[in-house]
Amino acid sequence: MTRLLIRDLEQVASPAGRDAPLRGARLRERDLIEGAYVLCDGGTIAAVGSMAELPALDGDVEELDGRGLCAIPGLVDCHTHPAFGGDRVEEFSRRAGGAGYEELHAAGGGILSTVGATRAAGEDGLTEAVQRHADWMLRAGTTTFEGKSGYGLDRETELASLRAIAAAGGIPTFLGAHATPPKFANADAYLDFLLTEVLPDAAQLAEAADVFLEREAFDATQAHRYLEACRSHGLALRLHGDQFTEAGAIPLAIELGARSVDHLEATGPDGIAALAASDVTGVLLPASALFLARPMPPARALVDAGAAIALATDFNPGSAFCESLPLVCSLAATQLMLSPAEALAACTVNAAHVLGRADTLGRLAPGYAADVTLLDAPDWRYLAYHLGGDIVAAVVKNGTVAFSRSAY
Ligand code: NIG
Ligand code: FE
Repeated sequence: MTRLLIRDLEQVASPAGRDAPLRGARLRERDLIEGAYVLCDGGTIAAVGSMAELPALDGDVEELDGRGLCAIPGLVDCHTHPAFGGDRVEEFSRRAGGAGYEELHAAGGGILSTVGATRAAGEDGLTEAVQRHADWMLRAGTTTFEGKSGYGLDRETELASLRAIAAAGGIPTFLGAHATPPKFANADAYLDFLLTEVLPDAAQLAEAADVFLEREAFDATQAHRYLEACRSHGLALRLHGDQFTEAGAIPLAIELGARSVDHLEATGPDGIAALAASDVTGVLLPASALFLARPMPPARALVDAGAAIALATDFNPGSAFCESLPLVCSLAATQLMLSPAEALAACTVNAAHVLGRADTLGRLAPGYAADVTLLDAPDWRYLAYHLGGDIVAAVVKNGTVAFSRSAY
């Protein structure tokens, strides 16, 4: 087993404890060691401590100089859409000139325009695209990402998307119910096709299912039908909900025992209270709200009410062309009024919880996966403080250096 010692770090910061998800005041509890080391043994963290207490290590140990750097757990992006062809730069430019996102979607643009480009990419093109996007995420400090299908909306391209995500090391989520392709008379007819022709095979490739519950997409009855069928095929459940309107996503997520409901920009006081009293995690996507110039989700109220929250990028070509969790942490601090410690827990341990992996991911502590993000900063809070900065010096994944900036 190869051992890797990351030594002489300015700080090591990690969410405290061993449980998940962290809620309320516990969300901001973190362990901090100044002048520290992290010792990886193969793919696992063997020890974390102060340099002053570093024991003598016999045998071969590779060393990484951590001077000037801070270590945080490898970031976990629990909500991305990396399997797409083409781009939406033309639409972006039109939106910048005043056109609305929903208006463009209703006119056949939006998600459906990406569907055409994604089908045209073919499986090889998609595999290449997801790998490129995964590399961008890694360079931004992300060591684990979930990726959704949802730009194929036919059998072949949905399955190819899930395979491409897995091939790039992502955790695949089946988002067949993202939009209704024009060849179907209505959303119900499309769901008939999806559940009989695609779900049985998609369930072999994906860990979870997701649905876009929104006007112009799928209503609560349709989402219920889709999610129940997915659950009966063994998939965990996620929902895109309350992005533009409150259309029943939170009650449905709670009723079905979903892992998360994501977006929540339109969530009001009843939704906040219901979520806080439940085991469903609210996944907040401030880069998407920013990109679409929409209201920010009520993060502070959710945390203060005791809800479990996570943060993610929502990386996709239309509503959040952004792969950077450090930027999301900056938005969390400046727009969502979360402290850097709350933001850190939300995109590490709580995001790992949404992916069913909080036992092994999201903390720097013995026994956890040796996934470490090294920040080029004297204080780990630069993660949120350095707005849009080139903050990630190196990334260790599974005990080996997966990315290193040439000079830091
Ligand atoms: O999470 N809201 C639905 N789906 C994506 C956006 C997809 C797109 O615009 O291509 C989201 O924001
Ligand atoms: Fe999304």
